[in-house]
Amino acid sequence: MSEAITIAAQALGEVMHGRSLGEVLEQLSAQERPIVQSLTFDALRKWTSSQELIKEFVPKTPPPETAHLLSVAIALFLHGEQKAYAAHTIVDQAVEACGQYDKTLYAKGMVNAVLRKVSQKLQAVVDKGYAPDPISMYYPAWWRANLKKSYPKEWQAIGFQQAQRAPLILRVNERQHTRDQYQAMLSQVGIASKTIDTLAGIPLPSALILEEAVPVSDLPEFYSGAVSVQDAGAQLAAILLNPQAGDLILDACAAPGGKTAHLLELADADVVALEIDKERLTRIGGNLDRLRLHSERVQILRGDASQPSWWDGRSFDKILLDAPCSASGIVARHPDIPFLRRASDIAQLQQKQQGILAQAWKMLKPDGVLLYITCSIFPEEGEDQAKWFAAEYPNALRLSAPGQILPSATNDGFYYALFKKNGS
Ligand SMILES: C[S@@+](CC[C@H](N)C(=O)[O-])C[C@H]1O[C@@H](n2cnc3c(N)ncnc32)[C@H](O)[C@@H]1O
Repeated sequence: MSEAITIAAQALGEVMHGRSLGEVLEQLSAQERPIVQSLTFDALRKWTSSQELIKEFVPKTPPPETAHLLSVAIALFLHGEQKAYAAHTIVDQAVEACGQYDKTLYAKGMVNAVLRKVSQKLQAVVDKGYAPDPISMYYPAWWRANLKKSYPKEWQAIGFQQAQRAPLILRVNERQHTRDQYQAMLSQVGIASKTIDTLAGIPLPSALILEEAVPVSDLPEFYSGAVSVQDAGAQLAAILLNPQAGDLILDACAAPGGKTAHLLELADADVVALEIDKERLTRIGGNLDRLRLHSERVQILRGDASQPSWWDGRSFDKILLDAPCSASGIVARHPDIPFLRRASDIAQLQQKQQGILAQAWKMLKPDGVLLYITCSIFPEEGEDQAKWFAAEYPNALRLSAPGQILPSATNDGFYYALFKKNGS
């Protein structure tokens, strides 16, 4: 584990310099990735508390490599991992990891002493019956202020929720198996799951939550498309758009294709999956191939949804607009997000969202419906945009939709608004 701790500490350093964790993890070998991902995710989730503990116990500010290494190790204590690894194992492995880049006795001695003290302090807290760390996720000041302004009562609970490990949630491909059948298949290989039956009052017929996360390679028939990994909040999208056989549907911001696939699982619709990013675009076909949903009904196009240049002029019956956003609703799954965004991003994203909404509306048939989605909990990207849109387009009739969904133990945060086009 000491090598993984060293790599995780280096990965943290890269995130602090503005690189996305996904990018950093992609460079690792398949063998290193899962453990390093788990260590870095936890270190980011527990960032504030680990920095406070480092300040409390380290005599003088340590160099960044050491601070990051301590953060990785302290996060293991903060998640109560003494059960998984004995405290002395965590300390020994961290000291060994330190020796991989700093051979001085001082550095190793300091890491040893600090982690022993941290472990004792946290054990005393746990002995009194408390969780080692009640709230921790790091949020930059502007992010916290935004949350607090939007959710004066709930903002701390939201922060707490987003600092937890996110569960693994599946969407069963009902073209292959019913949810009950798949649950039985899971149980046969010893994987315990529960159904998630509704969210925001809307039935979720295909959602399963695993009691413990497993690698996808352990999921029965994953590679032949029996199931996808998709948050329960995201599973509402295709259900709300309610695709029907023969519908012409635009998935305006489609990669990696999670919602495109769900639309195709639900109906024999004709779907145009549009995506601006060349690399991400390739993932749509891959996902549809795996799920056995790739057919002549699907057109995968590279293009900018805020421009008509890619459009052949055929109006759509339905549009799913999963807009680029701050991703503030999916921090539990991507704990590097608050470290990477800037306050100024929000206004820029709002402009992009409005540009895509305006163009999409032109491509929608009279009486067609448009579902606007963001995986954000900032109202600037959700309800404010829906209000702007309704005011800007008097022919937009707002239909019933969940609006803002906040993160919980079984779903990420999403925003949903549904509009029907009255006349042309
Ligand atoms: C929230 S993600 C979509 C997730 C996807 N719907 C799914 O469920 O798998 C938003 C996507 O929009 C793409 N995007 C951003 N701006 C775009 C634009 N102007 N036109 C088309 N796609 C865009 C991004 O590259 C990103 O892949």
